[in-house]
Amino acid sequence: MAEKLRVGVLASGGGTNLQSILDNCAAGRIDAEVVIVISDIECGALARARKAGIPAEHIDRRDKDRYPNREVFDRAVLERLQAHNAELVCLAGYLRIMTRELVDAFANRMMNIHPALLPSFGGQGMWGHHVHQAVLDYGCKVSGCTVHFVSLDTDGGPIILQRPVPVEEGDTPETLAARILPHEHALFSEAIQLFAEGRLKIDGHRVRILPSGQR
Ligand code: GRF
Repeated sequence: MAEKLRVGVLASGGGTNLQSILDNCAAGRIDAEVVIVISDIECGALARARKAGIPAEHIDRRDKDRYPNREVFDRAVLERLQAHNAELVCLAGYLRIMTRELVDAFANRMMNIHPALLPSFGGQGMWGHHVHQAVLDYGCKVSGCTVHFVSLDTDGGPIILQRPVPVEEGDTPETLAARILPHEHALFSEAIQLFAEGRLKIDGHRVRILPSGQR
């Protein structure tokens, strides 16, 4: 039995993306195991990790004595990820902007899920309902979700997978978010499995997906 890919998850919210990854790992749909969940704030994602018996660590972003700046904070996150030998890091609704040391340590081994079709509606301030409000305000007829490798350019890393989701008449940010969320869950697990199979090859800013069986 091949060793399963060791995944570290960073989250700041309710944790439905985390839960979907956990469920898909347990069901054998992803050849991986989540070895640690880290959050900057006590949140639903940590509660879900604890319920699943997975190490769940709260690194409190408000503790300015221990973490006076983002670099020190990210060094603490990095140390915990390395302590658990994480091979892939998944940002599942994680609201911190990454600093260089953490991004470089997991170059091309850190993925983020974004609830829009990047590069549209991404970057600073574009998170959660702000994304969907901007999509509706612009009058888009289609939105969707994107899984991408993380770089120092917020939401600007190489795109792994995308999926379109229709905008319906009368949508609110909440109804649009709810329609996109299940597609986020499916897309994130699909991307993790492709990574586990060694089928993601970065070519400039493109990510090529190799045919099954080819590495
Ligand atoms: C998702 O919509 C994700 O795209 C965004 O934050 C939300 C996280 O939701 N980054 P959850 O905490 O996984 O339920």
